[in-house]
Amino acid sequence: MPSISVKEFLFWKKKQLSKGGDHQSFALLLDCIAGISTSDLNLLKINSEGNLYLEKDLDCLELIWEDHLLNSSPIQYHCGITFWRNLKLKVTDKVLIPRPETELIVDIVFNIFGRQSQKLFFAELGTGSGAISIALALAYPLWDGIASDIDQDALEIATKNYINSSKQSNLKFYCGHWWNPFESFKGKIDLAISNPPYIPNDTYEQLPKEVKNFEPKIALLGGEDGLKHIREIIQKAPLFLREKGWLILENHFDQGEKVKKLLIKNKFKSVEIVNDLSGVGRFTIGRYK
Ligand SMILES: C[S@@+](CC[C@H](N)C(=O)[O-])C[C@H]1O[C@@H](n2cnc3c(N)ncnc32)[C@H](O)[C@@H]1O
Repeated sequence: MPSISVKEFLFWKKKQLSKGGDHQSFALLLDCIAGISTSDLNLLKINSEGNLYLEKDLDCLELIWEDHLLNSSPIQYHCGITFWRNLKLKVTDKVLIPRPETELIVDIVFNIFGRQSQKLFFAELGTGSGAISIALALAYPLWDGIASDIDQDALEIATKNYINSSKQSNLKFYCGHWWNPFESFKGKIDLAISNPPYIPNDTYEQLPKEVKNFEPKIALLGGEDGLKHIREIIQKAPLFLREKGWLILENHFDQGEKVKKLLIKNKFKSVEIVNDLSGVGRFTIGRYK
């Protein structure tokens, strides 16, 4: 295990941050690759005498940091980890890095059902790293959940994340196209959630490098108008939802009104656009009849 004086380390850290990047990404690198947590760092600032033990040497950390800065490669993929709500999740380039704005989906569920809800059956379509379903399965131990994804590699990561986060067995994963793996659950689902790919084809080309060059295309592309998957999910939802079952969808910043119309056209009631923390109509929700 490489050892270094604290003073030397703090000098090196300042030098790396002067090259660019944000403090949060650098903290993730130190935590996940070097084994130095943010609370370790705070202690070092108070007492800068003595030595520090790192799990990887500074050259190795510097190479990763420079690759991140130069190529815009997401630090979460280098680290193999991301933090989302209160979860520590494994991520690889086979899954989308779950976004902070998506955390609000769990709060929307809390608003609808309260924190102490009795038995309920939920489904997530396009689970990726498993973030949303795992958060719900943990928050509601009495609920049962099913989660699908088209990508087997993503499901393996979601399954590992669930096993690492929980000793429960109230969430199951299925491989397949949107609702298809849920044939045997027709008419039984109380709540369905999806953050499907919704980026219109021409917008995809203009996405920032860190997204376009690294995150899975299949997790992002939503066809010509971005609504291809949302349309299909809404049209088939009535077959799978129970009467008065909820559908919660994440959409692109400007799709709220169109998704609302689609829900109404498919006989959903209580249709509402919910803003994210920046005031963007990021989610559209509705109740089937
Ligand atoms: C925007 S990502 C969301 C991932 C995760 N739920 C989250 O919020 O971070 C969309 C997910 O849908 C999956 N997906 C894409 N096409 C699909 C399809 N036809 N059927 C099922 N899942 C699909 C992708 O593999 C990806 O994991």
